[in-house]
Amino acid sequence: MSTSPSSSVRPQRWVVQVCQHRSCQRGGAVAVLEAFRQYQSPHIVVVESDCMGQCSSGPTVKVMPGHTWYCRLTAEDVASIVEQHLGRGEWVRDRLHPRFHPPETFPSPPSVDSP
Ligand code: FES
Repeated sequence: MSTSPSSSVRPQRWVVQVCQHRSCQRGGAVAVLEAFRQYQSPHIVVVESDCMGQCSSGPTVKVMPGHTWYCRLTAEDVASIVEQHLGRGEWVRDRLHPRFHPPETFPSPPSVDSP
């Protein structure tokens, strides 16, 4: 069954993977990582990632559980992802990676699974 991150099933802990490989770094991934790190807590774990294979649309971020991909992020996008996705369990749709979350699939995002 598909559920939105806004379902009543909320993870105990979010893991935010921020690509720090070359292409994403050229696009500003260091600033994105630093911005996410401002929000680290027992419930939000921020980790650096090697290339996630989405170099042409970086900086790339993946949020688990739920396998949610964000693309072309800037440091300015981070607060809304933290508040909206990690806080309220709602996707920040205009930053979703369309390869993984094509708009025609809205409002049926992938299931939130175990971390
Ligand atoms: S360099 Fe970030 S996805 Fe490849």
